[in-house]
Amino acid sequence: MIRSNIAIRANIFHFLNKGKHEFIEDGLLVVIDGLIHEMGSYDELVHKWQGVLPFLDERGHLLIPGFVDGHIHAVQNGVMASYGAQLIDWLQQYTFPYEAQFADMDFCLKDISIFFDEMLSNGTTTAAIFSSVHKNSIDGIMSEATKRNMRIISGKTNMDRGAPEELLEVTNNTYEETVELIEKYHKHQRISYALSPRFALTSTDEQLKQLGDLKIKYPKIHVQTHISENSDEIIHVKSLFPERKDYLDVYEHYGLVGKNSLLGHAIYLTDNEWDRVKQLGASLVHCPTSNLFLGSGLFDLQKSLLMNIPVALGSDIGAGTSFSMLRTAAAAYEIASLQGFKPSALDLFYLISLGGAKALGLENKVGNFEIGKEADFLIINTEKPNMLKQRTQDKIRIEDFLFALMMLGDKDSIKSVYLMGHRIA
Ligand code: GUN
Ligand code: ZN
Repeated sequence: MIRSNIAIRANIFHFLNKGKHEFIEDGLLVVIDGLIHEMGSYDELVHKWQGVLPFLDERGHLLIPGFVDGHIHAVQNGVMASYGAQLIDWLQQYTFPYEAQFADMDFCLKDISIFFDEMLSNGTTTAAIFSSVHKNSIDGIMSEATKRNMRIISGKTNMDRGAPEELLEVTNNTYEETVELIEKYHKHQRISYALSPRFALTSTDEQLKQLGDLKIKYPKIHVQTHISENSDEIIHVKSLFPERKDYLDVYEHYGLVGKNSLLGHAIYLTDNEWDRVKQLGASLVHCPTSNLFLGSGLFDLQKSLLMNIPVALGSDIGAGTSFSMLRTAAAAYEIASLQGFKPSALDLFYLISLGGAKALGLENKVGNFEIGKEADFLIINTEKPNMLKQRTQDKIRIEDFLFALMMLGDKDSIKSVYLMGHRIA
């Protein structure tokens, strides 16, 4: 595991907490053993560290924390941009057949390696990741993350109904197989294991019960799943779980909703479900490009912010249309706009950094440049794309720059990416 020592000179931006950011023009970030050691103005710190650590001169560029992606599928690269379907048809026509290929180890490793390279080159340094149902794919995800020393939350996707036969696991094995995976991977390097029932339509009561038992055995373990993404999906869920009072109750009944539960989409929650999400301390993940692409609906970001519910943004590749959390944040802005709400660039950058880390329960590890945190950061090229360069010729306020970066930027704007002080992309 590479943990570098380095001092970087750049303009530095990060959040101290919600609503409070720090911007140091011509600053120095000092990383020792892969962790944030000190940060301040270049002039004040240069004498202390020159000759002690290797220096990197990124003057004029912006240094920010790596992005957090709260919901992404490692097994859907080739599903991106599949034409013409809403959720259920999209799963059946495109996604399940694509995921079936992950039974093959060669295909699996190749595609997952491409997935990690793409995420990192887009500036995502922390992510909550879904696998396919195959053990191959979770082994692939864990080994590619370990190789790159990336902080991830992931677990084997559980499905025992509602998908083609070759994608279903034997219900009775769920508990024991998952124990094995947790013991093998949880807290190994920078990995946290997540119980990952795909969604209500692909798990039987019996499987959810086993996952609930695992949550009792490992109370702090993450849970990630999908909820209330599409109107037809919700009708199916009602018919499969007639005894549950709503969609949330399908998971809540088995003890799967609480702190460290990441609920993806959450477009059609009722007021009562919103209240229970809040009471139970669960996090929501807003997947804006996916919700637009599949025509799923508009997540109520304003409500989540007003209720102070932890929220992350998710690219949701392969229903999402970009790996870039800048594109994802821009889509979140546009969806909010359609609903008469204009979140600021600061609101949205918070969600893809410290706020996202908080929603994922990782705020003690990543998300900003607090002393002792893991040094995952990006150098932003403030001159790419061209339109951004035009905007920055006159000196503008940091929040105005971030807004332009979010709306105009993408992978091109990411000059370099560091994990624990070590350059990875
Ligand atoms: N619901 C169940 N599975 C999926 C998936 O793979 N992608 C999305 N967007 N929604 C889902
Ligand atoms: Zn998803």
